[in-house]
Amino acid sequence: MNEPSQKPATILIVEDDAASRNGLFEYLTLKGHKVFEADRLQAAFKALDYINSGSKDKIDIIVTDLKLPDGTGLDLLKAIKGGKVQTSDVIVTTGFSSVKTAVEAIKLGAYDYITKPVNLDELELIIKRIISNKSLIDELNILKNRLDEKFNFGNLITSSRKMTAIVDTAIAVSGTNSTVLIEGESGTGKELLANIIVNNSRRKNKPFIKVNCAALSETILESELFGHEKGAYTGADSLYKGRFEMADGGTIFLDEIGEISLKTQSKILRVLQEKEFERVGGNKTIKIDIRIIAASQDIEKKVSRGEFRQDLYYRLNVINLRLIPLRERKEDITVLIRRFLEDFSGENGKNVTGISKEALDFLLSYDYPGNVRELKNIIEYMTAVSKGGIADESLLPGYLKEKYSEKKEKKGSDLKSDPFFSKSGGDDFIKIPFGTAMEDAENIIIQKTLQMNGFNKVKTANDLKIGLKTIYRKLEKF
Ligand SMILES: Nc1ncnc2c1ncn2[C@@H]1O[C@H](COP(=O)(O)OP(=O)(O)OP(=O)(O)O)[C@@H](O)[C@H]1O
Ligand SMILES: [Mg+2]
Repeated sequence: MNEPSQKPATILIVEDDAASRNGLFEYLTLKGHKVFEADRLQAAFKALDYINSGSKDKIDIIVTDLKLPDGTGLDLLKAIKGGKVQTSDVIVTTGFSSVKTAVEAIKLGAYDYITKPVNLDELELIIKRIISNKSLIDELNILKNRLDEKFNFGNLITSSRKMTAIVDTAIAVSGTNSTVLIEGESGTGKELLANIIVNNSRRKNKPFIKVNCAALSETILESELFGHEKGAYTGADSLYKGRFEMADGGTIFLDEIGEISLKTQSKILRVLQEKEFERVGGNKTIKIDIRIIAASQDIEKKVSRGEFRQDLYYRLNVINLRLIPLRERKEDITVLIRRFLEDFSGENGKNVTGISKEALDFLLSYDYPGNVRELKNIIEYMTAVSKGGIADESLLPGYLKEKYSEKKEKKGSDLKSDPFFSKSGGDDFIKIPFGTAMEDAENIIIQKTLQMNGFNKVKTANDLKIGLKTIYRKLEKF
């Protein structure tokens, strides 16, 4: 007898000949495998349905005869290929006369075939090979899941190196309990980043409570955050557990924290320091275990104006993540447009396939006071009003259409008085006087192309088919 397999498998034998079936059953059971039997095709389907829909067992391997009373082993393979049966590896057993059919079985996706009478050692070898392949695949899947988990960027899209570094830091600190302060202009993705931190943390399946501090007046905010006892004030007719209590064990996101009053700030400071507080109108001290993520547009300014407590700022600012305005990472505009176009055209059932060059050029030159949220809204609008196909500048929202024409006019008048520029037959030309030195000519070409492209270096590099680095180097030199 051979050494036992390293790992047992769950095997289904499909064989109408009782003697062969029993022989296989005994041998494979002795080898430590869990074995099920079927004497015909329908019985095999039943067994697969029953076992695979049950909780514990999954058939790893099917050993099937080719000729069965109510069909062939090929029918079983076809069902597996067609996705009707959960994938198992199939070993076909066949009489010598039907090796051709066995080859067909391999073409249909069988793992291997054995001629009858079955050499049991050979069968066990094949089973071992399948098992070791399977565990390799399982390991790869686990590894892949771990990687996915590790780099769970959620829906955040960026191609900017600086932004990627910020997200990497966020993910690196997500496993800790440290307080995080996310700063950035409106629409830069502060909440999105907070979600990413929580989703990558151990508190992922615990409560995640969000509070927009700017939306509530001081009194309401306090009772929202800390809760209140019954009868704490008129109208407080029952006990209310505040957001801090609700977040116990999990995470609280204090959005727009710069907007809270000095009085509430001191209470929050205590929660940060001591992890305790009292409900409004109560004197019982409540202890909690929470992780705090705070967000604000520009809290330092408030600190310098005395509107925000410096000690609270330091407490919050353990890990600082400052998101970059979109106009300072223009390389993100194209990737974001592509994603938003895909998303919205899918959502609205519109087949928008792309964006015109003119519209893209304009969107690349625009400075987005509302950052990514604004760009997202623009693309949502353009997709909604589009009839499909390429979205062009005529679909820009009203407030941008004006800017678009202004920009076009300005570009035209700037260029008209430009000695290095000319227009002919509707095309634009760069004019370089006879006798210009090579280096100067190059300079003129780069400068004028930049100007035509609204000073977008990436696009200019693309147009001139040179590297972005070359552009930077030349500009420095000129
Ligand atoms: N990098 C990004 N990739 C994809 N979507 C983004 C990105 N950044 C922001 N968004 C989207 O833009 C919108 C605004 O993002 P978010 O609410 O996170 O910004 P915010 O900084 O919290 O803004 P505010 O200060 O106005 O609250 C959301 O719909 C968000 O999904
Ligand atoms: Mg926000």
